[in-house]
Amino acid sequence: MITMKNVIKEGNPLLHEVSVDVNLPLSNEDENILRQMIEYIRESIKEENQDNPEYRPAVGLAAPQLGIMKKMIAIIAPDENYVEHELFLINPKIISYSEELTYLKGGEGCLSVDRPCDAVILRPKRTTFDSYFYDYETREIIKNRIKLKGYLSVVFNHEYDHLKGILFVDKVNKDNPYYVPENATPVIFKGEKIEENEEKS
Ligand code: NI
Repeated sequence: MITMKNVIKEGNPLLHEVSVDVNLPLSNEDENILRQMIEYIRESIKEENQDNPEYRPAVGLAAPQLGIMKKMIAIIAPDENYVEHELFLINPKIISYSEELTYLKGGEGCLSVDRPCDAVILRPKRTTFDSYFYDYETREIIKNRIKLKGYLSVVFNHEYDHLKGILFVDKVNKDNPYYVPENATPVIFKGEKIEENEEKS
């Protein structure tokens, strides 16, 4: 069972290494790792674990965060209408992304980064990628091409960066951490107020 003690932290050089493709069909060992990554996320968002330091809540986890340099990602995250999406990915590869950018107003978080950082991290508003998709229930693997937008594009690109050895804190604009270019708009969840002229101090 994976808990926070298995997650490597900023400062560990493995987080800046590039991951390699996973061999298919999936070995028992690799499948076991992916299933544990999924189970970690499921446990971490349970009400009963909210005060448990072993489970910092997560919407995504990449294998390199366990020190395993393989292209596997587990995401359980909502879209802007609060519909939950499960994306259990093996060997994802980005095909194209939009020039329009998006970002999270409160900044991003990462299980591998312990310090607070609310800088604007710019992500493609829409991302198209090929991947093998793992089904937790049936254990089937299907290759597919999908397009994600908004919050899910942010989460996917955050995790995809882990496979390239990049942390979100590496992407902070050092001159102005809150800089928002003209082609970027924030992720807005349904019912959320759009604040004009929002400023950060
Ligand atoms: Ni992360």
